[in-house]
Amino acid sequence: MLNGKHIILGITGSIAAYKAAMLCRLLVKEGAEVRVIMTPLAKQFITPLTMATLSKHPILVEFFNPENGEWNSHVSLGEWADMLLIAPATANTLAKMTTGVADNLLLTTYLSARSKVAIAPAMDLDMYAHITTQNNLRTLAERGVAIIEPEAGELASGLIGKGRMAEPEEIVKQVKEIFAKECVQTLAGKHYIVTAGATIEPIDPVRYITNHSTGKMGYAIAEELALRGAKVTLVSGRTALQTPKGVERMDVVTAEDMYNATTEAWKEADGAVMCAAVADYTPKCVADQKLKKSDDDMSIELKRTKDIAKELGATKGDRILVGFALETNDEEANAEGKLKRKNLDFIVLNSLRDKGAGFGGDTNKITLIDANGNQEHPLMSKREVASIIVDKIESIKR
Ligand code: C5P
Repeated sequence: MLNGKHIILGITGSIAAYKAAMLCRLLVKEGAEVRVIMTPLAKQFITPLTMATLSKHPILVEFFNPENGEWNSHVSLGEWADMLLIAPATANTLAKMTTGVADNLLLTTYLSARSKVAIAPAMDLDMYAHITTQNNLRTLAERGVAIIEPEAGELASGLIGKGRMAEPEEIVKQVKEIFAKECVQTLAGKHYIVTAGATIEPIDPVRYITNHSTGKMGYAIAEELALRGAKVTLVSGRTALQTPKGVERMDVVTAEDMYNATTEAWKEADGAVMCAAVADYTPKCVADQKLKKSDDDMSIELKRTKDIAKELGATKGDRILVGFALETNDEEANAEGKLKRKNLDFIVLNSLRDKGAGFGGDTNKITLIDANGNQEHPLMSKREVASIIVDKIESIKR
């Protein structure tokens, strides 16, 4: 998603500058062209040689090259950039940014940049919490600077609190989101439901029946739909994940709760992606009190839950309905059966027999099956899988 993007990576004098090396590497790996500007103090924390090697370009620090007088034009740098990303951004640099101080190349470039600007603050917890710093951050945010929030944790000082620069992976993720916001909002005006995660079926106040779903695949799909401008209702069973930006999340517990929330949202929706691992059976009776053990075996009587995807399929009209099939055997035949029974437009098949597919991990290996046949895809990240699924949704013409 960063292919061909011009990014100026500004590095200031913080101990977190060591993370700028990894950040630069990740940006280049994502296809961005990176030019690095360091403040004079930043050179004390990470060498220009390291950053020049990783960015594949000489580092810029001074207004001009003292050897030959060659001018480092902040104006043309500012014009070249699609984004000025300052990471780490010290309290000093962000204070100067708010007041317009222009005493180094990074600051003059900031003042001349017409591009998007993002900063990843890094400082000690008290400096970060100080009212001056907070006011400066608010001012910059009001002027359209994206603030990539620091994390809480152990700081270089040994103190524990908020101020540690976000991890390079997180910064890259947020940089991508900033660029994605400007990509064509191909799904603007559309409303999609995504079901995700595992349902929980109580047996008594203490025990329950559930499954291994973590919700990662469904959350990635919800995120992708929102990035393309859709209104997204994420009906979520149990998960430890954070709600993706721009997504409306409804938490549910049981298959019954998920059925109620999803069928209600379906009245208004243009489509649904059924990614949740819904219990097929639930205890017939839920005990009010903890079941006591005895010396005998015991059995729990289960009753069928409602099939939410099938219910949506029955009232689909010309809307779009996507299902998932996680199989362990006879994969394609099972998935094709579900495609028809549930009246889906297409089904995403993943097999637990494939390494790297299924629960918990960050990768998946899928086959998309529709009435016209099968499309197999190689192992890839769940984010990439989400993008392929949403591309397929967009390709369905109604
Ligand atoms: O029939 P099976 O459970 O294998 O089908 C899987 C697909 O149906 C998934 O898309 C899943 O989210 C959906 N489903 C559902 N409601 C159920 C069971 C499955 O929406 N009760």
